[in-house]
Amino acid sequence: YEAKIDLADMEKGTYPYYMLKEIDEQPATMRRIISEYTDETGTVVIEEPLLQSLLTSDRIYIVACGTSNNAGWASKQIIEGLANIPVEIHLSSEFGYNMPLLSEKPFFIYLTQSGETADSRQVLVKTNKLGYPSLTVTNVASSTLSREASYTMLLHAGPEIAVASTKAYTAQIAALTVLAKAVGEAKNIPAAEEFDLTKELGIAANAMDIMIAEKTMIEGIAEEYLATTRNAFYIGRSEDYYVSMEVALKLKEISYIQAEGFAAGELKHGTIALVEEGTPVIGIITEAVTAPHTRGNLREVESRGAHTLVIASEELSKKGDQIILPIVHQFLRPLVSVIPGQLIAYYATLLRGYDVDKPRNLAKSVTVE
Ligand code: G6P
Repeated sequence: YEAKIDLADMEKGTYPYYMLKEIDEQPATMRRIISEYTDETGTVVIEEPLLQSLLTSDRIYIVACGTSNNAGWASKQIIEGLANIPVEIHLSSEFGYNMPLLSEKPFFIYLTQSGETADSRQVLVKTNKLGYPSLTVTNVASSTLSREASYTMLLHAGPEIAVASTKAYTAQIAALTVLAKAVGEAKNIPAAEEFDLTKELGIAANAMDIMIAEKTMIEGIAEEYLATTRNAFYIGRSEDYYVSMEVALKLKEISYIQAEGFAAGELKHGTIALVEEGTPVIGIITEAVTAPHTRGNLREVESRGAHTLVIASEELSKKGDQIILPIVHQFLRPLVSVIPGQLIAYYATLLRGYDVDKPRNLAKSVTVE
């Protein structure tokens, strides 16, 4: 496998931090993924043996840690919707020692930006011993997990330096969309045949650009909501919940604000007890069926003193919503809805005076179990 490493990628250039540069690079990464995985006729192409292996599998197990695990959650509906294969998401550190009963024809996907995470590798070693097919989706071509898995798909995101992962998350979702489209098309699944990957991923890339251009507004929001708070919550349902988990992780790992991403409907079953006067609760709303319910949950916390903020898709937005997301294909909403949360984490950290790229206690690549 060939990775294209541009030396300029290693430089921050005019950026104060790598994280901001990497957030900005996301639309270009989407466009690179389109060009890397489509041929001159626009057909989505993945390696033939990988395709064949997926066509005979009855269940996909995504195994990953941290942000990569969150990318797995955000991709579940895409793979199930386009390729019609059930998908389970597992934490590497749990899965290896507590393996569930597997389906007859399991296929393992290891999502790992670095390709070196020990927790994920220990599972791969086990599934290799059991003889199961595997795919590593990674940003690093020569990495250990890439070498040891049956197949590799590269993210083509360029080196990611900031400890808080941003462009790898969106690149993983895009790469799994490529995979899902290729498998679904080979199975003649109408949803996959109708899904125009080049067009939809292109629209999503443009929508990401629009959100990224809102930096000044988002910096103001970070100042208003997160300058002094001790804790914060992101809430949402289904895809919006998965994105909530990711942006809460972003916020806590670099700003040290105790942040949690929560299923909006589950809040009332315990966690709402933590809401007090001024607690920031940020709702992500991109899905019509769940929008009224999440709005209801926001009203519940507001009546208990929460300082609420809404990140909503344009078609579902209401007067007073602070952040409006451009409309994209339903499967690709996480690519866009994650961006305000990445920027909120970045600016909250700057405001609070911490090193954005090198948070305490964390490493970019964790090679111990
Ligand atoms: C470390 C990093 C996280 C990352 C996780 C998984 O903990 O600090 O940002 O999400 O490892 O890394 P991987 O390279 O396997 O995606």
